[in-house]
Amino acid sequence: MNTLAILVAAGRGERLGADEPKAFLPIAGTAMLLRAAMAFEQASSVEGVVAVVPSSEVERAQEILEPVRKLWGVTSGGPRRQDSVLAGLKLAPEDFEDGIVLVHDAARPFVDHELIDAVVSAARLSGAAIPVIGLVDTVKRLEGKRVMETLDRDTLGAAQTPQGFRYALLARAYEEAFRGGLTLTDEAMAVERLGEPIEVVTGSARNRKITLPEDVVWAEMILRGERVGRSEEEK
Ligand code: CTP
Ligand code: MG
Repeated sequence: MNTLAILVAAGRGERLGADEPKAFLPIAGTAMLLRAAMAFEQASSVEGVVAVVPSSEVERAQEILEPVRKLWGVTSGGPRRQDSVLAGLKLAPEDFEDGIVLVHDAARPFVDHELIDAVVSAARLSGAAIPVIGLVDTVKRLEGKRVMETLDRDTLGAAQTPQGFRYALLARAYEEAFRGGLTLTDEAMAVERLGEPIEVVTGSARNRKITLPEDVVWAEMILRGERVGRSEEEK
């Protein structure tokens, strides 16, 4: 095995407010977790897929992920995202030090195999790579309710997943971050602290994280638009 993808899906989805864990929510009939996993199934650079889900949902996840032939394992997550990532890292095979590990939010169901392959090849070359998109709004630095300054948008970007790393590097970064009691919102944050370079790959607006109820509406609209587009082509 050269490349293992960890799909973190153990969050509760509190901001979404659905009555089941977010990753299990269907978008146009297909659970977000399966949509995301199928992109990795289609990415030729990926050999194994691990899903990290709430402990009560392991069996259900195994059923949902039936079509994923690359499925390597399903395991229970932890209270914080970083605990779930760590649980996934523990399923990496032995002697995986030089392998590439990808960490992806199952809440980004529209990731595509081109982006996945691009992150893997950049991570193979440089050890670490993440997708980033530019910001469209003018960004301010605030202190409470006061605007302090405008930041130079050209030097800023929004980080997405999948984030790819040489396994040994991410394992070391995670070890240091946990030892330092750090709260991580992505994996790159842990690697940055080691001073190791991280390559930027162009992300995509479509690879948006489903966080709020309006994001689900957006997701359904995207899929509806594509269905209409396809049937127009068939005419
Ligand atoms: N995640 C996880 N384990 C956690 C927390 C989050 O695996 N303890 C995963 C989520 O399932 C999601 C991804 O990390 O795929 C990004 O997190 P987020 O969008 O914040 O999802 P939730 O934590 O589920 O949502 P919320 O913060 O609104 O509760
Ligand atoms: Mg969360």
